[in-house]
Amino acid sequence: MDDIIRVFDTTLRDGEQSPGVSLNTEEKLEIARQLEKLGVDVIEAGFPIASKGDFEAVRAIAREVRRPAICGLCRAVKADIDRAWEALKEAAHPRIHVFIATSDIHLKYKLKMTREEVLKASVESVAYAKSLGAEVQFSAEDASRTDLEYLYQVFAAVIEAGADVINVPDTVGYSVPDEFGALIRGIKGNVPGIDKVQLSVHCHNDLGMATANSLAAVQNGIQQVEGTINGIGERAGNAALEEIIMALNTRRDYFKRAVNIDTTQIYRTSMLVAHLTGMDIQPNKAIVGANAFAHEAGIHQHGVLSERSTYEIMTPESIGLKQNKMVLGKLSGRHAFEERLKELGYNLSQDEINAAFERFKDLADKKKVVLDKDIEALVTEKAIKIPE
Ligand code: KIV
Ligand code: ZN
Repeated sequence: MDDIIRVFDTTLRDGEQSPGVSLNTEEKLEIARQLEKLGVDVIEAGFPIASKGDFEAVRAIAREVRRPAICGLCRAVKADIDRAWEALKEAAHPRIHVFIATSDIHLKYKLKMTREEVLKASVESVAYAKSLGAEVQFSAEDASRTDLEYLYQVFAAVIEAGADVINVPDTVGYSVPDEFGALIRGIKGNVPGIDKVQLSVHCHNDLGMATANSLAAVQNGIQQVEGTINGIGERAGNAALEEIIMALNTRRDYFKRAVNIDTTQIYRTSMLVAHLTGMDIQPNKAIVGANAFAHEAGIHQHGVLSERSTYEIMTPESIGLKQNKMVLGKLSGRHAFEERLKELGYNLSQDEINAAFERFKDLADKKKVVLDKDIEALVTEKAIKIPE
């Protein structure tokens, strides 16, 4: 099995589908440049037929960002493919991404097409995209709610028509990890030609399982994983790439698969995406939340100050943060308090520390977080109030 998992970033396409988010070309370019530094293998830059702005952004990224493959989304119709190719053709590595829904529920209520018609449109559009000279990715939208025999049939037919990448979206975040892993095993065991293409997954987070489902697919031998930075996207969002990447890196012993990512660029990328999209990151968000490397409880602080690995399974430096954070609050202990006094440049006697620590505990009962400026005030108070 290929050891490397390719990382497909769709922050600029599916991520931009987050309600209220709209990025202009310059902002998209800035994110694309940063994604290149992060080391992603594919950047899905937009949906070129959707708007003039999206077309221009995809074309600008295709012209400038040269190392990763640049991908544009299209429905399984010729006009979409032509528009995508127009935007992508100057890319160093252009990829056309054709998608069509395959579940009966989508066929009946959205597409109003029969299974035969969807099969035909899939094959014709993949063959047409391939004839233009691009790498071709095919996605069966709502794959996880599609009749299995039909899904196998569609995948086999588009591989025959020239698809290079077969993507399995859990479009509405309906799967659970065991089930999604079994879906991948079923595809690998039943689709002729699947070993000649890259198998990919694209998970949504409606039940909070996008990362777990993606990792279950990794365990079952996929070659590409899709997601967005900070997990932004439609509804509850997409799989958060920083979570998948750090899970694969931190538990290399377990997954035994690697990614070509410079993890020290994660924090910077996350901040840039949050800033340009205006989508705040919840403080307890895994990997990039403000509290992800913060310790408040005294027992934890003592542990980390003695040996970081007691409560840190990855280092803040590994995602590009300078250091972890000791939050001083009512649960904090003397060890962390003394450490912070030293960092702030105070060299106090034991009696002075004892008195300041008592005042700190009083204050911490009233105030959720004790800031450096509060500590400075406490110590200054000492100078006035603790002569003996
Ligand atoms: O969620 C989904 O099914 C998609 C496809 C277009 C890949 O975003
Ligand atoms: Zn999606």
